[in-house]
Amino acid sequence: MKSNRLPAALPMMLVFVFSGAAAQELSKLEERCIECHDRNQPAMVADWRSSQHAEEGVTCLDCHQVDEDAPMGARHKGTHVSVLVPPTVCAQCHEDQVEQFNQSGHFRAYRQQIPKDSLHALTSIHEGREHPELGDAPNETGCIQCHGTEIKVDDEGLPTPETWPNSGIGNIYPDGSTGSCGVCHTRHKFSNAEARKPHACASCHLGPDHPNIEIYENSKHGHIYLTEGHTWDFEGPTGEWKPGEDYRAPTCATCHMSEVGDVEATHNVTERLYWVQWAKRSNVRDSDNIMSPTLGDGEEGREKMLIVCEACHSIRHTDGFFAQADKAVNLYNEAYYEPATEMREELREKGLLKDNQWADDFEITYYHLWHHEGRRARMGATHGAPDYAHWHGFFELMQDLYKLEQIHEKRIETGEIE
Ligand code: HEC
Ligand code: HEC
Ligand code: HEC
Ligand code: HEC
Ligand code: HEC
Ligand code: HEC
Ligand code: HEC
Ligand code: HEC
Repeated sequence: MKSNRLPAALPMMLVFVFSGAAAQELSKLEERCIECHDRNQPAMVADWRSSQHAEEGVTCLDCHQVDEDAPMGARHKGTHVSVLVPPTVCAQCHEDQVEQFNQSGHFRAYRQQIPKDSLHALTSIHEGREHPELGDAPNETGCIQCHGTEIKVDDEGLPTPETWPNSGIGNIYPDGSTGSCGVCHTRHKFSNAEARKPHACASCHLGPDHPNIEIYENSKHGHIYLTEGHTWDFEGPTGEWKPGEDYRAPTCATCHMSEVGDVEATHNVTERLYWVQWAKRSNVRDSDNIMSPTLGDGEEGREKMLIVCEACHSIRHTDGFFAQADKAVNLYNEAYYEPATEMREELREKGLLKDNQWADDFEITYYHLWHHEGRRARMGATHGAPDYAHWHGFFELMQDLYKLEQIHEKRIETGEIE
């Protein structure tokens, strides 16, 4: 083990690959990293050993070694090492993926929050109770673990516990780069197969406000994946994972990222979208400003998505599906968002909303209408998930709207907040 890069536990077949012409010699330093960490964190080193990276001779040093004057990292065992591995490191070998990621909604996941005072107030004032030492807990254990934050380092170049560890997708690293490449294909395996499975998205895309994994499991696609997905072949480089050959129903990655027919693979998850569905009102995507809610080109996005569906379905089936889904999005916009917003504007003008929106029944119901129920109805419809389109969606939207109407009527009649 010491003088040979062959990891002891690898099967014979890989040993053959390793001893082939492509094999690269490991430096003494690389061997020391691996050997010592094998004693300290054997599971972590086993993950790396099972990865494409190990097979290709990409080692600890390639990702963790930094210059002495780098904005992060500290002296460690004869060199400079940073535990933080920003996208700039991956970009040295995977430029395309990083460039595509940088054009996606994922890129702005933290950046979009910086200027929004109401979001900071939600976590620090309302949830954090303005507690001087503990008040940041809801943000640190919640928002930043999905969205990311600005990772800060101490005087020694080591990340602070207020900002790391952190699996948020939109982290800003001390070198200024943005993103987190290990959230869908986790370290140290960094595997395509893992990222192609729906649960790679599920640690963030779940819950009352964006239940994408629950929605998927309610769809026919999820039904098929859950009954037989374990027999499918998820391995292989981009372009070689094919409907019909390797799998018979799509996962999140199939529709949003992987190559399907004439649609090229992308790390820009915004590329195949038509609507924006998380926003209060769903508009068609029409902007190349990364911070805009309507980021993307809706018409082009729809065309790409249709090609994905048509790899497995007829054109009539696909067109019929989107006619149904678009009707639901439009109904939400016109019959729920618009009347609810008109009532809210009237109450605001007449001074009939409380200063604290989180203690006002009208405001809380309005928030649920667009942020929870409204997203579920829209996302249920666009993913073929009837329980979410209806019971968790339009049924509850209807209840919200009746409640808003009653509160509105009472406040207008009495001129007072109840
Ligand atoms: C002689 C043993 C040894 C050698 C050689 C060694 N490390 Fe470590 N390394 C450690 C120990 C021990 C820790 C601390 C682990 C802990 O916190 O539990 C550590 C921590 C780390 C961390 C995490 C630091 C942090 O702040 O959490 C990284 C990354 C790392 N080493 C990479 C490397 C790399 C790259 C090399 C090769 C240049 C290397 N190590 C060589 C023992 C070693
Ligand atoms: C392909 C790039 C890559 C390679 C190769 C790699 N790492 Fe990492 N490593 C990462 C990333 C990404 C993280 C997460 C860092 C972050 O949060 O910014 C990480 C985190 C770590 C951590 C801290 C995480 C924890 O769970 O404690 C240690 C320790 C570590 N690596 C050691 C190693 C060692 C030892 C090797 C070689 C056997 C190695 N790494 C090889 C990318 C890599
Ligand atoms: C020194 C170059 C290098 C660096 C740095 C590097 N990689 Fe790789 N990576 C490779 C090579 C070589 C392969 C083998 C496949 C190929 O040629 O693309 C690979 C393959 C992959 C794969 C596909 C694995 C599979 O299952 O087929 C993923 C995912 C990946 N890398 C992610 C990352 C991420 C994330 C980072 C940064 C944390 C990173 N890589 C850093 C060279 C690198
Ligand atoms: C670590 C958390 C995390 C993971 C894992 C994750 N996402 Fe996201 N995703 C987010 C966040 C946060 C946003 C909202 C970004 C923003 O601020 O606009 C988002 C937004 C999106 C959007 C909308 C982009 C836009 O322009 O509005 C799509 C589509 C998406 N994700 C798909 C996926 C898919 C598919 C996967 C898995 C292959 C995935 N995500 C994995 C956190 C994550
Ligand atoms: C479980 C992971 C998770 C947590 C925790 C989380 N979010 Fe999100 N957030 C997401 C995802 C996923 C989306 C994207 C939904 C979509 O595309 O439909 C999103 C969307 C958003 C958006 C709209 C996107 C945009 O570009 O404006 C905002 C704002 C937002 N979140 C703020 C927050 C704040 C503030 C917190 C903490 C109070 C928080 N989120 C907690 C996962 C999370
Ligand atoms: C939202 C989830 C997600 C995030 C975030 C993500 N990836 Fe991936 N990645 C995937 C999926 C899914 C695949 C497989 C796509 C396919 O089927 O071709 C993949 C494949 C790859 C591959 C293999 C390409 C090949 O030719 O086989 C590389 C390299 C890679 N990603 C690098 C990165 C880098 C670098 C980042 C950070 C900018 C990153 N990924 C962030 C989901 C993600
Ligand atoms: C059969 C293909 C398909 C599968 C599988 C799929 N999606 Fe989607 N997704 C779509 C379509 C179609 C839309 C709506 C596109 C539009 O705007 O017309 C969408 C929209 C979204 C959005 C909304 C972005 C916004 O504007 O707020 C998110 C987030 C998302 N999907 C995440 C996921 C996740 C996570 C999974 C897996 C758990 C998944 N999707 C599975 C096709 C799919
Ligand atoms: C990899 C192949 C594949 C892709 C890609 C795919 N589907 Fe499917 N889809 C299936 C299979 C298989 C079924 C199950 C058919 C059945 O119920 O007998 C299915 C079922 C459905 C159903 C349930 C109704 C029905 O006919 O059974 C809808 C709706 C649907 N797909 C829409 C879509 C849409 C929209 C897209 C693109 C956004 C898409 N599918 C992409 C394979 C696929």
